[in-house]
Formats: sequence, structure tokens, C-alpha cells
Amino acid sequence: MTEEQKQQLLKSQQGELNALLIYQRLAKITKHPKAKEVFSEIAADEGKHAATLKSYTNIVLKPKAGKAILVGFLYKLLGHNFVIGLLDKGEMKSIESYRPLKDDFPKIQQIMDDELKHAEMARSLLT
Ligand SMILES: [Fe+2]
Ligand SMILES: [Fe+2]
Repeated sequence: MTEEQKQQLLKSQQGELNALLIYQRLAKITKHPKAKEVFSEIAADEGKHAATLKSYTNIVLKPKAGKAILVGFLYKLLGHNFVIGLLDKGEMKSIESYRPLKDDFPKIQQIMDDELKHAEMARSLLT
């Protein structure tokens, strides 16, 4: 892999770890039972994505809590539907970030399929 690809994979790996914390945090604070279930399910997927990327980078990264704290704050301040909108956009943006990598790293196609599913799962939670 090129140095640029390695940097992109590491950035994505960090993003997946951070997303894991974001969804775990949302699962913890939401008052909607269905959302609790869906956020937990997505969190588990993000953990798998981080593991897939680690299989390419061979570097162990640690999740960073900053975004999860911010999103949790926004959830309380601006509400459920506002944050669902952010999650939808974030998932769609991550699909675009994976697109240049998918031909050289075949396991990324599954991640992209999952991110699309996550965006749809998030939208299904709009109230
Ligand atoms: Fe992911
Ligand atoms: Fe996702």
C-alpha cells in the first residue's frame, strides 16, 4: 500500500473507533427504546469496521471520546431528530471517503454497504 493509502486507512480506523463511542453514548442517553437498540447494533458494526481496517494497517489505535461527548451534548440540547440528521450525513460522507480505497482493499466494500445501512437505520428513527 502507498503511504497515502495507509494514512487514509488509519484516519478511517480512527473514525470508526470514534463512531463506536458516539453510538454507544447515544444508546446510553436516548429515551427511545427502539433507538437504544438500533444505536447499539450500529456501535457493534463500527467496532467490526475498526477491526477490519486494523487488519490492513496493523496499528492499534485508541478511540477518542471528544466527538461522542459533543454529540451527546447536541442530543440533549438540540434533540433526537437533529442528531439523526448529523448521523445520516456522517454515514454518507464516510461512504465517499471509502470509495477511493475499495478497489485495493476488498473488505472495504462490506464496510461501505454497512454505512449505507446505518444511514437508513438512522433515518428510520426520525420521529
Ligand atoms: Fe463504520
Ligand atoms: Fe456507520
